[in-house]
Amino acid sequence: MAAASPLPRDVRVAPSILSADFARLGAQVSEVLEAGATVIHVDVMDGHFVPPITIGPLIVSSLADLVHDAGGRLDVHLMIERPERQLAEFARAGADGITVHAEVTPHLDYALAQIREAGCAAGGAICPSTPPTVLEEVAGALDLALCMSVNPGWGGQAFIPASLAKLERMRAMLPDDVVIEVDGGVDGSTAGAAVTAGATLLVAGSAVFGSPDPAAAYRDIVQAAYE
Ligand code: DX5
Ligand code: ZN
Repeated sequence: MAAASPLPRDVRVAPSILSADFARLGAQVSEVLEAGATVIHVDVMDGHFVPPITIGPLIVSSLADLVHDAGGRLDVHLMIERPERQLAEFARAGADGITVHAEVTPHLDYALAQIREAGCAAGGAICPSTPPTVLEEVAGALDLALCMSVNPGWGGQAFIPASLAKLERMRAMLPDDVVIEVDGGVDGSTAGAAVTAGATLLVAGSAVFGSPDPAAAYRDIVQAAYE
């Protein structure tokens, strides 16, 4: 198995497979990897923290070799309750980074430490209604801070404009080596502003895989991110 690339510090767009065609999942992921994507975002939902049920470790392990052989990373976003129970299994399945929500656990610091112990980059995520100060409290345990710019649970929602000011606060309050990720409603019209506000890892689901040409859509968002 090839080693994963390190957590990128420069601006990257991470296609989210939530909006992919699961009957052609490998081919769709290959398309965006060939277009230059190095981070593939995997949205895990449990039907409790958020209503939908989506992806488990099985899909992560199915994609692991494909993504790692291309020099990419699997960025696993857990929208689940009791994440502590699942971390080791996602790490074993091939996750390179695992992000847990601050809202689901009173033991965020502990969960982040467990993620690092499992050999993965540790991410903390916050919903639109959660103040970023919860992440400031655990800054030393964070490799990545994810700002939800929609309410978690579904692809294809509109970017919440107040997320820009929140990204600015997060960038200012967290150490420089914590990567700021933005997730939800990112497309060619919002990517540039998200980067200006401090995000460097931009998740894009429907804007990539909702397009008839995901590779071209991916490149367009990258272009917009750098403008
Ligand atoms: C939503 C997920 C997102 C989703 C984003 O709960 O966390 O990663 O895939 O989808 P778009 O880019 O369509 O808003
Ligand atoms: Zn996500």
